[in-house]
Amino acid sequence: MPKILILYYSRSGNTEKMAKAVTEGAQSVAGTIVELTYHLDDASDLTNFDAVIMGAPTYRKEMPIDFKNLFEEASAKGVTLKGKIGAVFGSYGWDAVAPPQVIAIMQDQLGMSVMEPPLLAKYIPDGPTLDACKDLGKRIAETLKNQP
Ligand SMILES: Cc1cc2nc3c(=O)[nH]c(=O)nc-3n(C[C@H](O)[C@H](O)[C@H](O)COP(=O)(O)O)c2cc1C
Repeated sequence: MPKILILYYSRSGNTEKMAKAVTEGAQSVAGTIVELTYHLDDASDLTNFDAVIMGAPTYRKEMPIDFKNLFEEASAKGVTLKGKIGAVFGSYGWDAVAPPQVIAIMQDQLGMSVMEPPLLAKYIPDGPTLDACKDLGKRIAETLKNQP
């Protein structure tokens, strides 16, 4: 069965709302295993999934430090996710720089096929944005299901 990881960081809950909506969308596709978490014990665990969707809010023009540490650990351990599907979403206030930073690493370091552009919410995600999050999760689950 296809496995999707939704890994997010959120300090004030906005990106978390998006993460839950992405999860709901992915879970709506029968036969998909979906894991929602804000922490991975080991960067090597990334290889257990067919798709990785990351929720990255922007703080001080940076991606979350937890993500930086995860990518550094993945690099040190030689983790590659070549050809696996990636996608990124996140809440921001005025300049959403974190999602493109995360996309670049997913592509260049991990070798993933990342869907672009990232899905963004200015502060609190509104109804249409949460619907877009659900749709993102659903589309990725369907893509995996239809893969040979
Ligand atoms: C200390 C601090 C720094 C922030 N820095 C940025 C920033 O550099 N760029 C930006 O667009 N938003 C910035 N924001 C706004 C957050 O990205 C925004 O509040 C977002 O909704 C937080 O998402 P979260 O609720 O998932 O943590 C900052 C907010 C705080 C409190």
